[in-house]
Amino acid sequence: MSLTEKAYYVTGTGMNIPGLVSTDSTTVPGAPVVGETQSLVPGAAGTTYEIPHLNIPSMVLADGPAGLRISPTRENDNATYYCTAFPVATLLASTWDTDLVYRVGQSMGNEVLEYGVAILLGPGMNIHMNPLCGRNFEYYSEDPLVTGKMAAAMVNGVESQEVGTSLKHFSANNVETNRNALNVIASERALREIYLEGFRIAVQEAQPWTVMSSYNLINNTYTAESHDLLTKILREDWGFKGLVMTDWFGGSDPVAMMMAGNDLLMPGNPNQANAILAAVKEGGLDEKVLDQNIERILTVLNESPHNKGYAYSNKPDLEAHAEVTRQAATEGMVLLKNDNDALPLTSEMNQLAAFGNTSYEIITGGTGSGDVNEAYSVSLVEGLQSAGYSIVKELQDIYSNYAETEKENLPPQQAFMPRVRVPEMAVDSDLADRMAAEADVALITIGRSSGEFSDRNVEGDFNLTQAEKALIKTISDAFHAKDKKAVVILNVGGVIETASWRNDPDAILLAWQAGQETGNSIADVISGKVNPSGKLASTFPMKYEDVPSSDNFPGVVIEAEEGSDEGGLSSFFTPKPSEIVYKEDIYVGYRYYNSFDVPVAYEFGYGLSYTQFEYKNVKINSTKFNEQLTVSVDIQNVGDVAGREVVQVYLTAPAQKMNKPAQELIAFEKTKFLNPGEIQRLEFVINPLDLTSFDEATSSWTAEAGHYTVNVGASSRDFRETTSFDLEEELIVQKVNRALTPNREINRLKP
Ligand code: GLC
Repeated sequence: MSLTEKAYYVTGTGMNIPGLVSTDSTTVPGAPVVGETQSLVPGAAGTTYEIPHLNIPSMVLADGPAGLRISPTRENDNATYYCTAFPVATLLASTWDTDLVYRVGQSMGNEVLEYGVAILLGPGMNIHMNPLCGRNFEYYSEDPLVTGKMAAAMVNGVESQEVGTSLKHFSANNVETNRNALNVIASERALREIYLEGFRIAVQEAQPWTVMSSYNLINNTYTAESHDLLTKILREDWGFKGLVMTDWFGGSDPVAMMMAGNDLLMPGNPNQANAILAAVKEGGLDEKVLDQNIERILTVLNESPHNKGYAYSNKPDLEAHAEVTRQAATEGMVLLKNDNDALPLTSEMNQLAAFGNTSYEIITGGTGSGDVNEAYSVSLVEGLQSAGYSIVKELQDIYSNYAETEKENLPPQQAFMPRVRVPEMAVDSDLADRMAAEADVALITIGRSSGEFSDRNVEGDFNLTQAEKALIKTISDAFHAKDKKAVVILNVGGVIETASWRNDPDAILLAWQAGQETGNSIADVISGKVNPSGKLASTFPMKYEDVPSSDNFPGVVIEAEEGSDEGGLSSFFTPKPSEIVYKEDIYVGYRYYNSFDVPVAYEFGYGLSYTQFEYKNVKINSTKFNEQLTVSVDIQNVGDVAGREVVQVYLTAPAQKMNKPAQELIAFEKTKFLNPGEIQRLEFVINPLDLTSFDEATSSWTAEAGHYTVNVGASSRDFRETTSFDLEEELIVQKVNRALTPNREINRLKP
């Protein structure tokens, strides 16, 4: 390669967003410009340069975590290029089933392969540090173990199809507001134990082809420019072998990014290439660094289907994948409440009154790059009708007329931004009473849309609107007056407030945003065809103010005169330099609520079933820890329908030397389908690293000597069996690089 070719090869071929950002693709004759890559895969997010005389083909990169996103139609082409919209990551995490997530990854990866894409820009796996983050739908959990295990399963599933993935966004990208100018100030321990740990698990258990650095800074350095993060931690400490790319337009100084180990600048523009070229010529960048980054890109290219001349069909089996998404979705829905067995619907409950706009217009997923162009979606009422239920027609017509009228008053829908939705229709007691007389059961669907570029609001988003609360109460009262049931269905991408209204309905099903088959999956669960087995991978707090980061999220602007206040896309391109201090430190999610005895609405790990399970006969193979321990327990289905149980193992470690959370999840497993009376014995291996906390003074993972308690539970607050062991001597399990040290004191939360 010539030096010019080298400088261009570490940058993508560019992106042409008319009116926003455009790069002059004529600078490098013949370079395909993303969005206009008609000859490659229209609608893909980015491409690498081809160098024909060296037999180097272009590589196509496309989003996203809930399914491949490419243009569904092409000019002068009668074919269609729809992809399957799978459940969002938050639902997949709620399955607690890594085998299922692997299978979803296989189907997703097959569409990546058959549509001619080399790398899927997912999984998204940032920690749910605060419920208001606009992208939590495309991330897994508040817990790094669940996050890492789900991401590893997804990577292994997608890459089983011989295409690549990209762990994103590395790291601590937990806020959307001013995200590409936000400086995250966090302790080494919080970073290592919470914000990096999931990525470590995924890198070491799945070795993804690529990792995507995040937009934000960590302790004053852009992650894309952080040698500490991308070389000392990712490569030296963890052994990552793939390539690192930026997020789109991420980072600032191309030379600093090259030196940090950020091998590929996406979507790329000639200015970056020319800056790199000049730096090598002027001695500001050692050409060996460039060669090393190029070698990593070529190593990935070598694995790619493009390089193997794979003849992709453009015809993946979408029908089979629709079945995969329908089944997977049912396994991640969480039954939050089910008084007097209101669910499943009995065979007599045939006439259903469907309230709420979202009953008729389902939300399949989030917005922004995490969206998918699917061929269809199944609404709740369509799913129920397919399952043989009758929907009260008069109510359906009322909602459809209301929505038609209201849509005319809506503000314009901005590309890539959360869906602009019709406000909830008020239902007066007359209508409620009439429906209660006519129908057997009331279904009330609450919907939420969120996505990239903006964070959620507390009022009217995290908290229900008054109209929504009034709807739930009016309908519940009317149906209760007739001794009938009311069921609330939450078609949301993230955590919302529930405590103020949950006493009104008889049952609450958290359906999440379950992909294109959402309506069928909900019908499968509420009809009893599928016994719900999902459990929360993030806490539902009593109120937003209980969230430990509620007073510092989404950070503060530090240079007010700069940047746009409009939010959304324009604030992305003109962000306001901001900062956020992760003062809650390691006390995120249940680590906080349990350690500080804060009541919650629904705890991490919680979820009901149509049956019940008993935990018994816990055993530990030694009460002295020496290299490894095994804990085993019997799980019995003591109810009268088959079902699956998510069994969780929490550790309480001695906290003499370092403050520790009250409990930390160290293992989990979902049982097979257990028939009534059936018992399955589960075994959990406890390894040295499971006992450790990150000791900043010695940059090591250290296990304190002392007494350890093991709780085996159905949730983080429902411990069923307990055992314990002792570690006689302090154990330094692993020494790592000193990295990402904050340059200021952080007043950290401690129990
Ligand atoms: C976006 C997102 C990232 C996505 C990329 C390409 O802004 O942050 O998740 O993969 O750009 O679309």
